[in-house]
Amino acid sequence: MVFRTLEIMNLNEKPAIHAVDLVKLYHPKSKHPVRALDNLNLEIAPGEIFGLLGRNGAGKTTLLRILTTLVRPTSGTAEVCGVDVVKEPYRVRQSICAVLQENAAEIFLSVLDNLSTYGRFHSIPSRKIRERAEMVMAQFGLDEYRNQKVIDLSGGLKRRVQVAKVFMVDKPVVFMDEATTGMDPVNKRATLDAIREHARQGRTILLTTHILQEAEELCDRIAIVDHGRCIATGDLQMIKSMVAKAYDISVTFERMRPEILETARKFPLLKIQSSHNTIELSVKGSDGSTFALLDALSKVEPIVHFEVTSASLEDVFLELLGNREESADNGGAS
Ligand SMILES: Nc1ncnc2c1ncn2[C@@H]1O[C@H](COP(=O)(O)OP(=O)(O)O)[C@@H](O)[C@H]1O
Ligand SMILES: [Mg+2]
Repeated sequence: MVFRTLEIMNLNEKPAIHAVDLVKLYHPKSKHPVRALDNLNLEIAPGEIFGLLGRNGAGKTTLLRILTTLVRPTSGTAEVCGVDVVKEPYRVRQSICAVLQENAAEIFLSVLDNLSTYGRFHSIPSRKIRERAEMVMAQFGLDEYRNQKVIDLSGGLKRRVQVAKVFMVDKPVVFMDEATTGMDPVNKRATLDAIREHARQGRTILLTTHILQEAEELCDRIAIVDHGRCIATGDLQMIKSMVAKAYDISVTFERMRPEILETARKFPLLKIQSSHNTIELSVKGSDGSTFALLDALSKVEPIVHFEVTSASLEDVFLELLGNREESADNGGAS
């Protein structure tokens, strides 16, 4: 796949995105201002695919609107490629493109015309537009729909056209707000692969999602956003290790015997269930205790099959958000 080299300022030393103590109050003068961002801090390196994960109302869209210069923060600073979003919004806009929730494709134009129009709007030379559109359609699996009007496409495909559009231009930073929401898994695969390919070329991609699996599949690093703050930031492994380690284990024996449960109960279990020849357990602790448990069980009765899974991102997400709910539920966001 051929890409033009990104004509961008020197990104090597500076973070692609840097937010410091960002606060956004909506209706600040009313009796009940909404604190959409609450001293949010974030730093994203060039070339990262970074995911903002959080439930509705967490503040993800507000952060993206500030970074794309659509709204001003109440206080704090934010820079994109080292340029301040409040002081030099025009320069920031030159280095970004965005798929925002309210963006729409031109529904009465064909897929190809949507891409071309976007390219022209961004001053891509006309001889390059067709070439670029062909590349983007191939990448995003849109070839076969090229002459169809967007109005006639399914919801998931419409979304895919919106996402594909922003890759018509070579901007170093791409923002995507829930861009892959509503795509079916087949559609999604082409889109996720294409996004990953663009990141490999050195683009920074900041996306929001409330779909954990999407973040898990695509992102190098993740921030979990809640009540306008990043409550956890890191790569997947790091975020997973922030919660007490737990493993789910399923063990099938040749036949079930009471000694199996007696032996299992000697270990620090979170739960245990048995049906037929299988027991399902959750064990708290290290990898070692899992092996010790399996070893002890196999001495009681031969094991036919076992499976061990560690906490998924979903467990982590729920635990982090759950803990915060208990410790700080003082209202604010609605
Ligand atoms: N234009 C607005 N006016 C007033 N309140 C808003 C506005 N936009 C968002 N909010 C509020 O700010 C909070 C954060 O919203 P938002 O940034 O859209 O979160 P998310 O994208 O994570 O769902 C919510 O409480 C929301 O109701
Ligand atoms: Mg949103």
